[in-house]
Amino acid sequence: SLSLSVHVSIIKVCLYYKSVFLCLSLSRSLAMNPLLIPEAYIIGAQPLCSQLVGLSQGQKKLCQLYQDHMQYIGEGAKTGIRECQYQFRHRRWNCSTVDNSSVETAFTYAISAAGVVNAVSRACREGELSSCGCSRAARPKDLPRDWLWGGCGDNLNYGYRFSKEFVDAREREKSYAKGSFESARLMMNLHNNEAGRRTVSDLAHVSCKCHGVSGSCSLKTCWLQLADFRKVGETLKEKYDSAASMKLNSRGKLVQRDSKFNPPTSHDLVYIESSPDYCLSNQSTGSLGTVGRLCNKTSEGMDGCELMCCGRGYDQYKAQIVERCHCKFHWCCYVKCKRCTKTVDQFVCK
Ligand SMILES: *[C@@H]1O[C@H](CO)[C@@H](O)[C@H](O)[C@H]1NC(C)=O
Ligand SMILES: *[C@@H]1O[C@H](CO)[C@@H](O)[C@H](O)[C@H]1NC(C)=O
Ligand SMILES: *[C@@H]1O[C@H](CO)[C@@H](O)[C@H](O)[C@H]1NC(C)=O
Ligand SMILES: *[C@@H]1O[C@H](CO)[C@@H](O)[C@H](O)[C@H]1NC(C)=O
Repeated sequence: SLSLSVHVSIIKVCLYYKSVFLCLSLSRSLAMNPLLIPEAYIIGAQPLCSQLVGLSQGQKKLCQLYQDHMQYIGEGAKTGIRECQYQFRHRRWNCSTVDNSSVETAFTYAISAAGVVNAVSRACREGELSSCGCSRAARPKDLPRDWLWGGCGDNLNYGYRFSKEFVDAREREKSYAKGSFESARLMMNLHNNEAGRRTVSDLAHVSCKCHGVSGSCSLKTCWLQLADFRKVGETLKEKYDSAASMKLNSRGKLVQRDSKFNPPTSHDLVYIESSPDYCLSNQSTGSLGTVGRLCNKTSEGMDGCELMCCGRGYDQYKAQIVERCHCKFHWCCYVKCKRCTKTVDQFVCK
């Protein structure tokens, strides 16, 4: 879940987790945000930072200094990728693999960076990290005077700074000739990492709890609270839909291709190359194609069989699915359900 080399198809990453080393096999890397395969296994204790395959030099140093952060970085990036898969479940590109300078890559970098900010900020608040604690953000000016400020908040300030240093480290260590395609890619990655972090920061808000006699709410305590990560996913998805297409100018800077739009800010996603249509599998673009994907026969959207299957048609078959059903609430407090099997029609792209 950290930065990994791009050229191997299965990589192993190990995280220090609850005092054991947990190793995960990862599928084809998305540069820094690979997809985790569930089969995790434990290996004997070995120095953590040398076990983490694919850390850059700077990241190894940070790993040594902040070993207790590594688990949260890993979990954060994984949360990002899970959210990516959720947001793109009805699209041809489903976050499984990616071309390396398209808008899909932009999204995966942004959401992984966002996941890391989220996880580190929360871990601070929960007292899991030795070098940070509750948020010490200043009291908002517009908070009513008799409300208390100082509940233990998510430490966004720390989460943002640490994630920036760690996640961006691998890009910052590279150096490419000015004006080269690689330097453009590097600027694109840094920009999208930042957009992801800013999205988390922009969505953070003040949350309050009532005190006082029998819920009178005469007294309130307030703190800084990160938004639910689903909201971060939705916001980045909107940014994906309006991402800016960029090119290098003669001075080696990234500029917008079409100058009639407002230039992107540090909160927006940017990309360099246009996307393939993701209809057919193509190794050089990282497209898996949509053969074998489920589609919806009645939908006219991207999940509809027409668009999802790129006009190739689909096969229909009956599938049995098991669902929770006849759920009853039992005092107190659990819900008991039966398992029902039902037969549904499924449509699968040719
Ligand atoms: C990105 O893809 C291009 C071709 O699409 C390739 O030339 C380049 O080496 C790739 N870069 C990385 C870092 O994989
Ligand atoms: C894969 O994509 C590249 C770049 O778009 C294209 O040039 C190539 O013809 C494609 N290959 C196949 C097998 O479709
Ligand atoms: C994404 O689509 C590919 C095939 O197009 C499929 O193999 C893979 O399981 C899908 N991934 C997810 C997370 O749905
Ligand atoms: C298929 O699409 C229709 C129309 O958008 C929707 O009402 C229905 O719930 C979808 N079916 C499934 C199985 O997602």
